[in-house]
Amino acid sequence: MTLGLRRTIVTALGIAVSCLLGAARSGGQTESAQKPLMAEDHFKNVQVLRGISVKELMDTMGFFAASLGENCTFCHVEESSGDWAKYAEDNANKQTARKMILMMTAINKSYFGGRRMLTCYSCHRGGEIPRVTPNLAEQYSAPVLEVPDEITAQAPGAPSADQILEKYIQALGGTQRLASLKSFVARGTYQGYDDPEKRAAEIYAKAPNERTFTVHTPNGDSTTTYDGRAGWIAAPDTDQPMPVMTLTGGDLQGAKVDTSVSFPRSIRQVFSQWRVGLPSTINDRDVQVVQGSNPDESPVKFYFDQQSGLLVRVVRYTNLPVGLNPTQIDFADYRDVSGVKIPFRWTVTWTDGRSVTELNQVQPNVTIDAAKFAKPAPPAPAKSAKP
Ligand code: HEC
Ligand code: HEC
Repeated sequence: MTLGLRRTIVTALGIAVSCLLGAARSGGQTESAQKPLMAEDHFKNVQVLRGISVKELMDTMGFFAASLGENCTFCHVEESSGDWAKYAEDNANKQTARKMILMMTAINKSYFGGRRMLTCYSCHRGGEIPRVTPNLAEQYSAPVLEVPDEITAQAPGAPSADQILEKYIQALGGTQRLASLKSFVARGTYQGYDDPEKRAAEIYAKAPNERTFTVHTPNGDSTTTYDGRAGWIAAPDTDQPMPVMTLTGGDLQGAKVDTSVSFPRSIRQVFSQWRVGLPSTINDRDVQVVQGSNPDESPVKFYFDQQSGLLVRVVRYTNLPVGLNPTQIDFADYRDVSGVKIPFRWTVTWTDGRSVTELNQVQPNVTIDAAKFAKPAPPAPAKSAKP
């Protein structure tokens, strides 16, 4: 990510110029799967966070909101909620935030050799203004057991990653049964954290690596597709700033990981290196933490229930210029579908939201039209969005 940081510094020096450019170039830009649209090409007033995709800029906003424990409108004018164009306008906090990005980059550069050691979260810790006084209550209370972002070495005495992954495959039904699951269509519901209602949802998945997930919202369909190489999110404008966002970097890797968890038989091949960390607990149950990593990608952590061997959590990151943006997926309610255990409920938590997906029906080995895994079309208007 040094590249991204360097780009940030360079463009920060050229703020006046890029501001004009941004205004002149916005609108009318298109993208291809190879070259996703950059944030500065789509948005009107991106001065510092340039050279990242539209989706990554949105991830960065989630990272900011989480770091300061604030809503979007803390750094944007009030009318922004409901009008994407208004996000381009500045308020005092937005201007401060830009200066903070430069400060953070400068500190990392001058004191940490350019390594991203300090982020918004390091100082803000979920607060508007960083605290200056040690907290005695915190000092004398029981420490929270935190798994590090990255497991840098195999924990002494821990079983091998192979052993844990093998137990997982066995717990799911064994290699042979898993191999016989070639595709599935699942139906159920999806509920966002701020949505009082559950929405109809469905998943089409084909081994080894294609998956599309659609939620029918009152404003139109929201679809995430991974075709084995590329990925996209199509959603109504109530949800995202452009109809179809191309996934890049950690978001694309995330889509790949989510898909490989649907067909875990070949999960071992998804990463070139595996490491087992110190044991941990989730809801008072003992878990083994196994990390998969590839060169130039953020590591992904898999948490397996020590007793059942089943996967209960995945934590993955999008590596943004401002920091690592985490996404956590908690799996539950494993049920048998023709000899293979499949989680029927999962909760996704990210810096910008949380959702619960519950399946009520999974049909194994159905023929799925290849078009289901193609780049999704812009969502149809609300009226035609029926389950
Ligand atoms: C801590 C401050 C902060 C928070 C919180 C924040 N933003 Fe931003 N946002 C910024 C800054 C700063 C920029 C401009 C970045 C630049 O100039 O490179 C920006 C730019 C944007 C843009 C591009 C606008 C344009 O057309 O130029 C959008 C869209 C946006 N933010 C959406 C959001 C959303 C949605 C949220 C809530 C999830 C959010 N922001 C939360 C600081 C923030
Ligand atoms: C080295 C510590 C540090 C880092 C890193 C840092 N901040 Fe800050 N930030 C501060 C301090 C200290 C203040 C309070 C300044 C003041 O009140 O004058 C502040 C204030 C702010 C404010 C104004 C809040 C208010 O209510 O006035 C915003 C917005 C902000 N920071 C955003 C960010 C963002 C976004 C990042 C990451 C890109 C970031 N900060 C990184 C230390 C930091």
